[in-house]
Amino acid sequence: MIETFKMSDGNRIPSLGVGTWLISDEKAEVLVSQALKLGYRHIDTAQAYGNEVGVGKGLFLSGLPREEIFLTSKVAAELKSYQAVTASIDASLNKLGLNDIDLMLIHSPQPWNKWRDKTNDYDQGNLEAWRALEDAQKAGKVKSIGLSNFLREDIENILKNGQVKPAVNQILTHVGNVPFDLIEYCQREGILLEAYSPIAHGQVLKDKTIQELAKKYAVSPASLCIKYVHQLGMVALPKTENPEHLLSNMMLDFNISRHDMALLNKLQFTDYGNYSTFPVFSGK
Ligand SMILES: NC(=O)c1ccc[n+]([C@@H]2O[C@H](COP(=O)([O-])OP(=O)(O)OC[C@H]3O[C@@H](n4cnc5c(N)ncnc54)[C@H](OP(=O)(O)O)[C@@H]3O)[C@@H](O)[C@H]2O)c1
Repeated sequence: MIETFKMSDGNRIPSLGVGTWLISDEKAEVLVSQALKLGYRHIDTAQAYGNEVGVGKGLFLSGLPREEIFLTSKVAAELKSYQAVTASIDASLNKLGLNDIDLMLIHSPQPWNKWRDKTNDYDQGNLEAWRALEDAQKAGKVKSIGLSNFLREDIENILKNGQVKPAVNQILTHVGNVPFDLIEYCQREGILLEAYSPIAHGQVLKDKTIQELAKKYAVSPASLCIKYVHQLGMVALPKTENPEHLLSNMMLDFNISRHDMALLNKLQFTDYGNYSTFPVFSGK
């Protein structure tokens, strides 16, 4: 049984989800139904992943009642106008074959090709996108709304000028790369955090400290990484295409001691190998 966290809007979100980045429609269909049959209840997709059709088929194939599943999607980072965002939510619902989405996020404060570019001001565009999400929520098309990759100043813009407080901020967090200040700020504001790439796209599993601590707790290194972000108070969104890993990533019935959390908090890890070219890992 996976525990749930309460969001500021009162809705609950399972603390462990299945990521679907870089997974095709065909594979997503199988992965999603497999994961739901194993006991997962939370799936994370995005318009940009190009697999909402497959994810929707997977939900259907699982045979589970819709209300037992928590589905997140994200508005493409390039869409910064009210009309474009509204149309994209309708398109997502259509592709997923659903009447509503549990959580819809703005994927990034900047389009990907302007990632963390301070010379462009996207505050106005993000507010338009936010208003479209607020209206979609009022219309019952999405139940909760939130952000992803938003830094403190991007969040302040929404808090100051929006009507609805963002329920979550989904950000890159894993052992060795934890934005402690941003986490503290969001938690103070009552915004729940979701950790994406909680195992650094697999790269962090090579770390010796992680391997040794995993041995100590008799868990896999991946489980240790997932538990770590849980103990930071965050939803974890690991991805795997391997059914054995899907199962072992749910083995979280242990606690990392305060001493070992402090040890993990001190690790620094920014070598993403071939994945360093992706904006989310570029550290730009
Ligand atoms: N909002 C955003 O901008 C954003 C950006 C990036 C990611 N995300 C979300 O976060 C999800 C996860 O991030 P991610 O895809 O970067 O990956 P991740 O979960 O950090 O790492 C995935 C890698 O870890 C391996 N792995 C997983 N479980 C394992 C296990 N038990 N043992 C050994 N290896 C294991 C997988 O290989 P196997 O397949 O072989 O298990 C895969 O290579 C994404 O799918 C997406 O939903 C969001």
